[in-house]
Amino acid sequence: MASDDEEVPVVQILSKQNFYSQALVPLPHLTLSRLPALGPRSLRVRTRVLSITANNFTYARFGDLFGWWGVHPLPAGTPAPYDDAAAYGRINCWGYARVLRSTLPAVPDGSFVWGYLPLGTLALDLEFADAAAAASSGPEPRLLVATNAYRRPLMPIYNRYLVFRAGTPAAAALEAEIERRDPGVAYDSIARCMHLTAYLMALVVFSPAPAPAPSPPPPPANPAGFDLASATVVSFAPASKVGLSFAWVLRRDAPASVGRPRALVAAASEHSAAFARATGLYDRVVVLGGPDDGPAGPAALLGVGPPDSVVLCDFGGRRGASGRWAAGFAAAGCASVRLVAVGGELPDEASLSAPPAPAEAKEPPPPPPPPFEVVRVNADDMLTEAVRRLGEDGYAAVVGGSWAKLRREGLPGFRVTWGEGMEDVRKGWDRFGRGEVQADEGLAFRI
Ligand SMILES: NC(=O)c1ccc[n+]([C@@H]2O[C@H](COP(=O)([O-])OP(=O)(O)OC[C@H]3O[C@@H](n4cnc5c(N)ncnc54)[C@H](OP(=O)(O)O)[C@@H]3O)[C@@H](O)[C@H]2O)c1
Repeated sequence: MASDDEEVPVVQILSKQNFYSQALVPLPHLTLSRLPALGPRSLRVRTRVLSITANNFTYARFGDLFGWWGVHPLPAGTPAPYDDAAAYGRINCWGYARVLRSTLPAVPDGSFVWGYLPLGTLALDLEFADAAAAASSGPEPRLLVATNAYRRPLMPIYNRYLVFRAGTPAAAALEAEIERRDPGVAYDSIARCMHLTAYLMALVVFSPAPAPAPSPPPPPANPAGFDLASATVVSFAPASKVGLSFAWVLRRDAPASVGRPRALVAAASEHSAAFARATGLYDRVVVLGGPDDGPAGPAALLGVGPPDSVVLCDFGGRRGASGRWAAGFAAAGCASVRLVAVGGELPDEASLSAPPAPAEAKEPPPPPPPPFEVVRVNADDMLTEAVRRLGEDGYAAVVGGSWAKLRREGLPGFRVTWGEGMEDVRKGWDRFGRGEVQADEGLAFRI
């Protein structure tokens, strides 16, 4: 096995048009020994643990819109044809990276970071202007915010890294977990960001809004203060990691500010309904397109009507089911119908290579009539708002505490499949693209 210095890095490169099509590209000119000296206050890290879920494909799908292709650009010297940044790109993942070199005195080589990482073994240099934060006393892991100039336009959530400093008990425990491929490490990679999103929904979107702060910053775009008390909550893609995490938070660890729903309903595809049911996290599971999802409509099915509130959380359900159901609840005269959009359905591969639809077909549909309200949420806005309300320490305590609890308990019936090395990552990406990864299976990789 090559030493760290001579290991030939391998990166995954995707076709931007058809992100199910990938290549593993070795970059022999970018071994550690050939890289320029590391800049000041920086960590040179290499991804060690990553996961593949629908979220990775979503980054590719909307990469141009949200700048996700730009986080880990094609390196100089990438061989043709993959050097064409209009056609090809690298996408991102959540997981752990090992610190190979450090110019941050408080963070020695051999430390680990958790956060937003490149999918491959090529080293990444992260700069941290606030070197004092790394050296300060405080619990491990500690939060450091990357400040490389090219990363400044990114949503702040992508620059936040949890650092486990070598020599501390937390780093030693983590390293041992990675060595033995502990399920907890897989959970950190597969579901920590999803739990974060779900917990923030509870904390920000479904908690009463506090009085506005007397001075800036103003609250971000996310709504606040939807009361779940007595509402019927319907989850689409309820067996996704973010959907499961949301159900788990409501059931097992809801912030005190969150009202108790009348019912938590899973509206799942035929692929995921059995697993959603087996988790025991839902009061009821409806198979979309199945006998229950018939012409009588969702309001009759769930026994809700004019005095009732319905909150639909769409974590990426298929075939526009959440919009159809929301329209059904509105037509039944429900007092309020709120559709909270978190994720989106993944297109199948054939549709990605189809010619673009004619312009008129792209016209957005007319806005739905009241009481039907659509709200799009994202983790970054919610995180900013949670930190504004609770402060960094308060935020870290509640969200970190809840994550530790979920990690300990696990998601009922969910199992982890570990892969080893980039070739397994390639196979996992292909399996997911072919629809072979069922909702009860989480793909984690050690590379
Ligand atoms: N807004 C935010 O800040 C935020 C944060 C985190 C995640 N997200 C988004 O939430 C969504 C779920 O992410 P995740 O990582 O939790 O995903 P995941 O666990 O891999 O989700 C799998 C679920 O997605 C549904 N799905 C729809 N089309 C699919 C397809 N072609 N192949 C496989 N599953 C498909 C399935 O539910 P059914 O079988 O029931 O259809 C499946 O159970 C993604 O769109 C992600 O980007 C958004």
